[in-house]
Amino acid sequence: MDTIIKKYDETHRDPEVIEQAAAILQAGGLVAFPTETVYGLGGDALNPHASARIYAAKGRPSDNPLIVHIADMEALEVLTAGVPEKGKLLAQAFWPGPMTMIFNKSAAVPLETTGGLDTVAVRMPSHFTARELIRGSGVYIAAPSANLSGRPSPTCAEHCIQDLSGRVDMIIDGGRVQIGLESTIIDLTCEVPVILRPGYITREMIEAVIGEVELDRTLFMERPDPDLRPKAPGMKYRHYAPKGEMAIVEGSREAVAEKINSLTYAHEERGEKCAVISAEEDLSLYRARNVFNIGGGHDEEAVAANLYATLREMDDLGIEYIYSESFAGSGLRAAIMNRLIKAAGHRIIQA
Ligand code: TXA
Ligand code: MG
Repeated sequence: MDTIIKKYDETHRDPEVIEQAAAILQAGGLVAFPTETVYGLGGDALNPHASARIYAAKGRPSDNPLIVHIADMEALEVLTAGVPEKGKLLAQAFWPGPMTMIFNKSAAVPLETTGGLDTVAVRMPSHFTARELIRGSGVYIAAPSANLSGRPSPTCAEHCIQDLSGRVDMIIDGGRVQIGLESTIIDLTCEVPVILRPGYITREMIEAVIGEVELDRTLFMERPDPDLRPKAPGMKYRHYAPKGEMAIVEGSREAVAEKINSLTYAHEERGEKCAVISAEEDLSLYRARNVFNIGGGHDEEAVAANLYATLREMDDLGIEYIYSESFAGSGLRAAIMNRLIKAAGHRIIQA
């Protein structure tokens, strides 16, 4: 299959691009498009064949449900069996934006889209291109992140092209995304809402609107307990993974640098390719040949925006061992750490 690649954003507004993408979606085809979090791989959420094609293009297990992207609140009447009061409050506060809510699904949503679940994940993105595409096509767009299963999520069109060229009908290039980490997911089908995936909308921000919420207990475990299953099926897979073996090193600034330097020295002595993920202010502490600047240690937004592109760069360079500083903390740091721990396959070294 030839993949059409076209630009569309605030400065490239050719209506034919949206018309072409809309026709593809309406016919059950697949279009990768930018959102404010990461690029999504879109198909018609109400067409079971489109959902099946999404799973095939990504190489993703079909028990892993998709997020449905909408552009107005009326869509909730079609997609859900009702929205609880707390859901309405969160929508008012954070939509359009990087937050996904789980509701009981309506009969209109096929089980192929929800991975067999009776619930549906819904998000109203704020990205200009995403909104134009949803409105212009009149389609509720089911879209997982537009990466091959197991690879870091795409934060620019080039990443989508690397993973999906020849596997999807069209890729819309809307430049680099703003946030760089997938949306916060919150389950509103329980008495006390549960955060299933941390993201840019933090627990603190959510609790300021609806009061107490819980965190899925499996999210930050160093060693996942095999008897506990995360409620978002996708969170159980080794997502966000670079090809190299990665570990997070925790401890004081000096101890971390010393530990990482001794590890990378040993690798380089053996002729193995290794790399360090460092905050900007720590770059000079490391002696390895490959040291990646992930952004200022106090600039969480920059770290989030750079993370996936950095992991992909490691793959391009054939890095075999990766050591990252820790970014533990609250707020956006919770989301950064969640992705780092998963990329590291839960390997944490105490310096
Ligand atoms: O920011 C985002 O959310 C991006 C952009 C494209 O919108 N999308 C995204 O989709 O990250 P994906 O498929 O890579 O991740 C969706 C996650 C998976 O972990 C999945 O298991 C979970 O959402 N999920 C979807 N529907 C669910 C449901 N009904 N119940 C529980 N978890 C659900
Ligand atoms: Mg994903």
